[in-house]
Amino acid sequence: MNEIVSVVQSIILFIPALIANSGAVITGGHFIIDRGKKFIDGRRILGNGKTLSGYAGGIAIGTVTGFIIYLISTLFNYALGTYGTLAEAIIIPFIMATGSLTGDIAGSFVKRRIGIDRGGKGGLLDQWPFALMAFLFLYIFERPFFMYHYFYVTMIVILVIVPPIHRAVNIIGYKMHKKDVPW
Ligand code: CTP
Ligand code: MG
Repeated sequence: MNEIVSVVQSIILFIPALIANSGAVITGGHFIIDRGKKFIDGRRILGNGKTLSGYAGGIAIGTVTGFIIYLISTLFNYALGTYGTLAEAIIIPFIMATGSLTGDIAGSFVKRRIGIDRGGKGGLLDQWPFALMAFLFLYIFERPFFMYHYFYVTMIVILVIVPPIHRAVNIIGYKMHKKDVPW
């Protein structure tokens, strides 16, 4: 029972990495990162879907979301888990969200290399790189937090639940006319 509670808490603490993507959809569209440039294979490096406003806005929204989770959790005797100190409640969500949107860029880079155009269905390439890079960033910059919360059972649980969550959120985004395609 306690194990399940701590896995659920760790998943809740990972929400900034998930929300960062939605934040990028809302704030995105300005200052295309690759500035229209092509890679040596003649295809776009990243494509028009990766913008600085999405990257920065998504990180900001992810970070604020983590801090809000922390504040709410504090009110309920840390029922939702905790990032640690007040400073960590800002730094850790920031690192997760930055890793998430960096992984999202890496995913687009790979999609372009294998010939999937911007917005094309990438399957796991749309769903895993952001989560994997969020874990890698935590591993590099917040190792004790990563080892305690995610290594390795919860990490696997998250990788299993992220694709259906990603799919559901994108269908909602599509219905709300925030996204052009439901994936
Ligand atoms: N977005 C952005 N900047 C980012 C990430 C996302 O502006 N760094 C915005 C773009 O408007 C993008 C939308 O969020 O179209 C959805 O993100 P995503 O699905 O990752 O991009 P796609 O358009 O599907 O492009 P890709 O095929 O490269 O994933
Ligand atoms: Mg997409």
